[in-house]
Amino acid sequence: MSIMDNFKEQIQRVIKGLYGLDDVTVDFASVPSDIEGDYSTNVAMRLARQVGKNPRQIAEEIIQALEGCGYGLTIAGPGFINIAVSGKALYEQLAENWSDNYGNNLSGVGKIAISEFPSTNIAKPYSVGHLRPGTQGWAAKKVLEANGWKVVTDNHLGDVGTPFGIWAVGFKRSGLDFNAVTVYDLGNIYIKMKADLKAEEAEGKHELADEVQDWLLKLESRDPEAIKLSEHFKEISLAHTHEVMGRLGISTDLEMGESCFVERGKDAVLEYLSKGYFEKNEDGSVICPLDDYGIDVPMLMQKSNGAALYATTDLGCMLYRVENIHPDKIIYAVGAEQKFYFEQLFAMAKKVGIEVDNYHMWFGTIDQISPEGKREKMSSRKGVVLMEELLDDAEKRVRENFGENLNDEDIKKIAVGAIKFSDFVADRKTGILYDPDKIFALAGQSGPFCQYASVRLSKILQKNADFKTVEFADYDWNEEKTVLQILLKFPEVVAGAAENFEMHKIAGYAFELAQELNRYYEKTPISSAEDEARSARLWLIDKADFVLKRALDLLGIEVPGQM
Ligand code: ARG
Repeated sequence: MSIMDNFKEQIQRVIKGLYGLDDVTVDFASVPSDIEGDYSTNVAMRLARQVGKNPRQIAEEIIQALEGCGYGLTIAGPGFINIAVSGKALYEQLAENWSDNYGNNLSGVGKIAISEFPSTNIAKPYSVGHLRPGTQGWAAKKVLEANGWKVVTDNHLGDVGTPFGIWAVGFKRSGLDFNAVTVYDLGNIYIKMKADLKAEEAEGKHELADEVQDWLLKLESRDPEAIKLSEHFKEISLAHTHEVMGRLGISTDLEMGESCFVERGKDAVLEYLSKGYFEKNEDGSVICPLDDYGIDVPMLMQKSNGAALYATTDLGCMLYRVENIHPDKIIYAVGAEQKFYFEQLFAMAKKVGIEVDNYHMWFGTIDQISPEGKREKMSSRKGVVLMEELLDDAEKRVRENFGENLNDEDIKKIAVGAIKFSDFVADRKTGILYDPDKIFALAGQSGPFCQYASVRLSKILQKNADFKTVEFADYDWNEEKTVLQILLKFPEVVAGAAENFEMHKIAGYAFELAQELNRYYEKTPISSAEDEARSARLWLIDKADFVLKRALDLLGIEVPGQM
């Protein structure tokens, strides 16, 4: 049992004795270093109304009843009870709990989750629009694994029919060479064709649209040219997706796009129609009414011409997953724009009786400050910002900020780490402001700041590699108290982050630890300390190195060898 758990039980016992109250919640927070004590609880303040006394009086009574408990207790402010714990007790607790898996827990053992990300659309090159789905979905996987879950990852590609028809027509008209066509050509073809189709529709014509449909029919009837084009386009697009994901350091176990679930989805629509869950409109389209689930807009499940929709394939996909992977939870890492869609989807799933805990892990947009000084969704003069452009630019900045002599591997780790960390700094539900001056800085809440702290730890360990440690049983650990306290919090942070996929708690933790370590080695000699202190401090640096790397790893951030 941890020191604080033990102390919590003692307080609960005393409260029961004094006021006859059972199982009162007792929480502890760390106390800033300029205040007496190490931990603090506000339990006396929370009991005031129930007990009918003022908080300071309650705090006094509790402290009196705890006399002889072995901790230094004081009252602070309106009635906080501050607890002073010795550095040595903190060390003993860390040493006792330490293992190669420190931070992990087994709460999810036996449970299966699917984390779905980045779910890009094959018709377009990878843009910054799919940065957050990738980084957040990957972190969800890592955090669940640290809590004992088995996690299957899946890239739910947007690859249903229409892009092919559009590409085929656009490609034919473009006169581009089959063997030389790139993902960027395909992206441009798609954008241009979409605009042309829109213009055509506005004029009341449909020649181009018919041509697109013809190619789709050709593909359905297995026309050899259509098959050849379709396979080639998909290959180009996937190779690009994989390359960008590789640069971002993310990958998925499965890659089952929307196209895999068209048939399954359509069959399910028929089934639920016959069971009365869904209804057919006069025009032949199928809806799922959701009034009973507090949503007054029904979900459109199939078009009037019988064609599948986004919702149809999502239904098919959910059934497939439940039947084949048996997940307890499915996490969809998708932006806030699709919030209402997922509310409808999950309500529909409940209505038809699909038993799985669906979770939309949503987040805000990536914004920038426009030249006019306005905050707006990130874009470039050409339109969307491509992920490769962003990464190239990040690497350039890292080279400029951190020197030419870093090797390419390390530059890449710092560039990607900086971008990812900026994604996790704040609650994911808020938008990110992409501010390169902050993101790539070595100071402040940045990825490079945390990475640098970790590099320094490794350096200290390397420098002392030949030192033979000695017994440090009598060391007092007074200077190490704050670092020890932060290290002791790690398992709690890992467990807490999994509750609502709050990755900012891990980023905040990594930053707090990095900051405290900087403070620590500014004032505490390590390599030049006498043998006992040196041994004890190296023990701690080793543990801090492990925890900081592990926290960053949960966010998908690697630490470079040099900085
Ligand atoms: N491809 C979609 C998009 O980029 C995201 C897919 C999300 N996942 C899902 N199961 N609907 O908007």
